[in-house]
Amino acid sequence: MAKITRKEFLKRSGTLAAGACALATVPACGLLDEPEMRVCTVGELEAAGTFVGKFNRKQIFLTYLDDELTIFSLVCTHKKCTVKWEENEELFACPCHEGTYDKLGRVIDGPPPRPLNRFKYEIRGEEIWVLNTFV
Ligand code: FES
Repeated sequence: MAKITRKEFLKRSGTLAAGACALATVPACGLLDEPEMRVCTVGELEAAGTFVGKFNRKQIFLTYLDDELTIFSLVCTHKKCTVKWEENEELFACPCHEGTYDKLGRVIDGPPPRPLNRFKYEIRGEEIWVLNTFV
């Protein structure tokens, strides 16, 4: 077994400590899911009607359903492709296997096994915050 000097041991320990510090900062690098995120203001959403954003590297869709804010996950419940809101047809369409969802996120046709997920949210003053939890 090879011996290492005190100096070499401290050098290697420092490398390990630096590695541990790098791992500790992973959330700051965006590799782990954020628990919440500010999306936009109520005024911005009302002016636009709908809003597409990204939360934890996945697309989300904000809209009002019967005056109630709804935040859909645009991740298809079949094989996780990104679905797209088709304004003219008022449905969400999945490009991968032609799954479709109505404007409430319910499955109309195709292989998706369940409705689109909806995120919980909070209104803080004028700001809309999406939470990393489904309704
Ligand atoms: Fe959307 Fe298959 S991934 S229908």
